[in-house]
Amino acid sequence: MTLPGSPHVAYRGDTLYVEDCSLVDLARRFGTPLYVYSRSAMLAAANAYQRALAGRDHLICYAMKANSTLAVLQTFVDAGCGFDIVSGGELERALAAGADPDKVVFSGVGKTRAEMSRALAVGVMCFNVESEAELDVLSSVASKAGRTARVSLRVNPDVDAKTHPYISTGLKGNKFGVAHERAVEVYRHAAALPGIEVVGIDCHIGSQITEASPYLDALDRVLDLVEAVEAHGLRLHHLDLGGGLGITYTDEQPPAADALVAALLARIDARGHGHRKILFEPGRSLVGNAGVLVSEVLYLKPGDHTNFCVVDAAMNDLMRPAMYQAWMGIVACTLRDAPPVVCDVVGPICESGDWLGRDRALAVQAGDMLAVLSAGAYCMSMASNYNSRGRAAEVMVSGDQAWLIRDRELPAELFRGEHLLPKA
Ligand code: LLP
Repeated sequence: MTLPGSPHVAYRGDTLYVEDCSLVDLARRFGTPLYVYSRSAMLAAANAYQRALAGRDHLICYAMKANSTLAVLQTFVDAGCGFDIVSGGELERALAAGADPDKVVFSGVGKTRAEMSRALAVGVMCFNVESEAELDVLSSVASKAGRTARVSLRVNPDVDAKTHPYISTGLKGNKFGVAHERAVEVYRHAAALPGIEVVGIDCHIGSQITEASPYLDALDRVLDLVEAVEAHGLRLHHLDLGGGLGITYTDEQPPAADALVAALLARIDARGHGHRKILFEPGRSLVGNAGVLVSEVLYLKPGDHTNFCVVDAAMNDLMRPAMYQAWMGIVACTLRDAPPVVCDVVGPICESGDWLGRDRALAVQAGDMLAVLSAGAYCMSMASNYNSRGRAAEVMVSGDQAWLIRDRELPAELFRGEHLLPKA
C-alpha cells in the first residue's frame, strides 16, 4: 500500500515505518500520543529549495510557526537555513536552537516594542514590516537604541491563492501587508525615517497553495513595485517570496519545490532582476510530510448512525481537522487481515468538534496504533492544553535511530505558574 506524502513514511510488510523505525515499537517505547518525525524527509525538503537556488545569493528562512520544536529548528540550522519568525518567543527558540540572527527575518502584523528591541539587540537580518504605523514605531525604537533596523515591506499583491479562506493572506480584505497601491509612498516614507534602512520587499499570499500561477501573478506584481520604488532612487537588495507551497494530504498535486522555484527564477531573470538576493519562507512544505501523530485506539463504539473509533489523541494535540475541517490521512500502524469498518476517529475531549477524521475505513481493535499522516506542520505547534491534557511527546528519527526531542508534558507542569488565592 502506497501512502500519500513522504517516501520516508511507508509500510514494510504490514508494519508502518518512519525511515527504519517501526511506529508500533516507538509507541511502546515512548507512549502515545506521540509525534514522530523523519529527519531525512526534512533535509530532503530543504534541499529541494536549495538545489533550485544553487549558484544564487539566496536564503531559505524556515517559517518556524509550522513546527518550532528545538530539534526541528536545529535540523534546519544544520541544513544552512535561516528562520522566519513572528514573535519574541519564536526568536528565543531560534536562538536556543543555534540560529544565526543574521539569517532571521521577523514577520507579523503586531510586533510589540519589546519584541522589536530584542530583535534589534540580537541583530536580526530584517524586519518584514506590515504597516505604516509599525514602521514609525520601529523607527522610534531603533533610534532610541542607537541601532538601525533593516526593513522590507510586506506588500499585499491582491492575488487569490485559491486556498482555504483562513489561510489565504494576499487578498485586499486580509489584515496582512501594505496595499499594493500605497507601497511606493510607504517606501519613500520609510527611507526618510531615522533608524530605518530599506533593504528588500516581500509578499506571502497564503498557505497550502497547490498551483504555480498565484505565485507567478504575485511575483509580477512585486516586480512592478520594485521597479516603481527604484525609479525613486531607492535600492531593494532582496526579494522575499514568502512561503505557502502546499503538500499532499490526499490527492493534491502541488508543484515540486524545485520546479516552482525554477519557474519563479525564470520569470525573475526574464524581467532583469536576476542579480537580487532571493528569500523564501516555507513552513509546511519543509516539515508537513515529515511527521506523523501516533495514537492508541482506546475504544470502538459502534452505533446505528455512526461508528466511533475513540483514540488517545485529540483536538488539543492536532487541531487542523476541528479548526479548518482539514482532511488528514489516518492509517493503522499494523495492517490487519480483517474487513475494514467505516468510522469517525475521535478523541476524548468533551466537544463534538473533537474529531481527527470522519468516515474512515479502518480495520482496527482496541489497543492498536493509528497514525495521522502528514502531521509535521501546524500540528504540534498548534497544540493546546484544553481539558488539561499535557502535550504529546515528540521523537526524531534518522535511519534506525530515534531520539526523544520533547518529553510528554506532565500534569504538574500544566499548572506551573498558577497561584491559589490567599486563604481567608
Ligand atoms: N510566511 C508568512 C508571513 C506566513 O504567514 C506563513 C504562514 C508562512 C511564511 C509559511 O507558510 P507555509 O509555507 O507554511 O504555507 N495553521 C494553518 C496554516 C497557517 C499559515 C500561516 N502563515 C494550517 O494548519 O493550515
